[in-house]
Amino acid sequence: MEKLRSVSILSAAIMTATAAQAVDLEVTHWWTSGGEAAAVAEFAKAFNENTDHNWVDGAIAGSGGTARPIIISRILGGKPMGATQLNHGRQAEELIEEGLLLDLTDVAMKEGWQDVVNPSSLLDSCTLDGKIYCVPVNIHSWEWIWLSHKAYKDAGVAVPTNWDEFVAAAPALEKAGKIPLAMGKQAWQANGAFGVMAIAIAGIDAWKAVNIDKNVDVANGPEYQKVFEAAVAAREMASESKVQDWNQATNMVITGQAGGQIMGDWAQGEFSVANQVAGEDYTCLPGLGANEVISTGGDAFYFPKQDDPEIEAAQKELASLMLSQSVQVAFNLKKGSLPVRGDIDMSTANDCMQKGLKILADGNVLPSGDMLLSADTQGQVEDLMVEFWNDPSYSAKDAQMRYAEIIADAD
Ligand code: GAL
Repeated sequence: MEKLRSVSILSAAIMTATAAQAVDLEVTHWWTSGGEAAAVAEFAKAFNENTDHNWVDGAIAGSGGTARPIIISRILGGKPMGATQLNHGRQAEELIEEGLLLDLTDVAMKEGWQDVVNPSSLLDSCTLDGKIYCVPVNIHSWEWIWLSHKAYKDAGVAVPTNWDEFVAAAPALEKAGKIPLAMGKQAWQANGAFGVMAIAIAGIDAWKAVNIDKNVDVANGPEYQKVFEAAVAAREMASESKVQDWNQATNMVITGQAGGQIMGDWAQGEFSVANQVAGEDYTCLPGLGANEVISTGGDAFYFPKQDDPEIEAAQKELASLMLSQSVQVAFNLKKGSLPVRGDIDMSTANDCMQKGLKILADGNVLPSGDMLLSADTQGQVEDLMVEFWNDPSYSAKDAQMRYAEIIADAD
């Protein structure tokens, strides 16, 4: 009897110890559309099934522009979450400098992230003074336009194969009661679309001169003049697109109300949730069919310091899981993004993701604006874009002049 008692005391002690290690980890993100929710559920499932801890979902509705200030002010204000999504790049710069984020270098070294993450430049934007403060989880590229086969069929015109054909087909779409270009009315969407047009129309060299070298003459020059003139045409094509959120605009393409949408490849998650098949129901043109590149933007998770060893252990378990091979496949297939590992089987990815994977493998990649421009400069360009896209009287010339002024002060 005595032995039985001691066994039950021991097992109770182990249970208590184990229970004491179980952490409820609040994870904040802004993934609330159909596709995004399906993707983040893969992270939650992996965490709940492979650790003793619990994923407490902290979804914040609205775009990154809404969620980011909430996330950052909570961390600065001493009410941190256990983990949070941000875009990998310069958004967390100040939080890292303030010493508010967990150093993940020990996990990264133990698991060889430097050799696993591809391209390894994704880690650079997580690294400050040789320490790693985030785990990159995907590569999202803005450089896409998504085209509705139904809209072009209804209008009796061929699905465009590049930007010029897209613009030329607009009148036929309008005649058929379609909106040529779907676009939500939020600043980041106008800014993102402009960036895609800059790469496709001004060309990669001019885009690098402006975004990397902050070259004001190029920003004021003939290549960017073509971009702003194309942006005037795009503004006209999107003038009847009266939606706010990006996924509402994507839905206009999915249902054939609109011909196309310039949007990052997170749009794929929406087509997938709508059971639409790339190449059959919709076409994706990387680089607007002009310059087939992808930008290595995307998402990473950061872990605010909590000064609690059990929470820290749970945070590091989550970071490790997010980069694991099986979770990378499960998450990215649902998210429509490219994985940050080069050593996994993505053969089940659809035509559009395969196009992106090939462009990535060919090395035709560009850094994202999030990595090159400070949050402040990004904000100024977004403000310009909101004014320009919402005011038909705002001329290409005036917008280009203002843009060059912003680049002159860019940091
Ligand atoms: C981006 C993020 C993507 C997607 C998009 C729209 O910033 O990297 O994962 O969520 O916002 O919400």
